[in-house]
Amino acid sequence: MLKFRRKILQAGAGLVLADPMFSQRRALAQTPECVDNPTPRQIEGPYYTPQTPRRSNLIDGLPGEILVLEGRVLSTACQPVAGAIVDLWSCDAQGVYDNTGFKLRGHQITNAQGWYRFETLMPGAYGNSSFRRTPHLHVKIQPPASSLLTTQLYFPDQPLNQRDGFFNPALLVKIEQKAKQPKRALFDFVVPVQARG
Ligand SMILES: [Fe+2]
Repeated sequence: MLKFRRKILQAGAGLVLADPMFSQRRALAQTPECVDNPTPRQIEGPYYTPQTPRRSNLIDGLPGEILVLEGRVLSTACQPVAGAIVDLWSCDAQGVYDNTGFKLRGHQITNAQGWYRFETLMPGAYGNSSFRRTPHLHVKIQPPASSLLTTQLYFPDQPLNQRDGFFNPALLVKIEQKAKQPKRALFDFVVPVQARG
């Protein structure tokens, strides 16, 4: 039985290798997602406050589920973008924005490898019976040599995602949840490369 199974596996492997599309598919799978695939833009919404503090922890003692958001800013040539301003804002766990102060608001500047990192709270949903927003984060990315990117990030497995007209699966963070550690959300922003002239 074992010998038979091994033969089947060998035959299967032969079929895959003989498939003329296999090497092409493998090449596509190895192509980094950042290549010529800029992060989609989304509306700013009504709750942006400029002049945010430069800081990584945005929580200011508010209650809620801690969320660590981190990732890189990359160019469409897949190169890290250093010195990009990453400005993050969101509502609290009850769906309320701080429109008078800077709770859950702040910016970071990417390091030499393009990395940014925030500690914030998992945002709640908000709206009413006719207009409902699924949990999301707002962000503006200002690279040193490219145009401003304004967009939003979403979370997988949220029941309201499919009922939110702004939801875009290309803007889903990747969640990592380990025991006794805060929830981590990972997202790499990809910005167009601007020719230097
Ligand atoms: Fe919002």
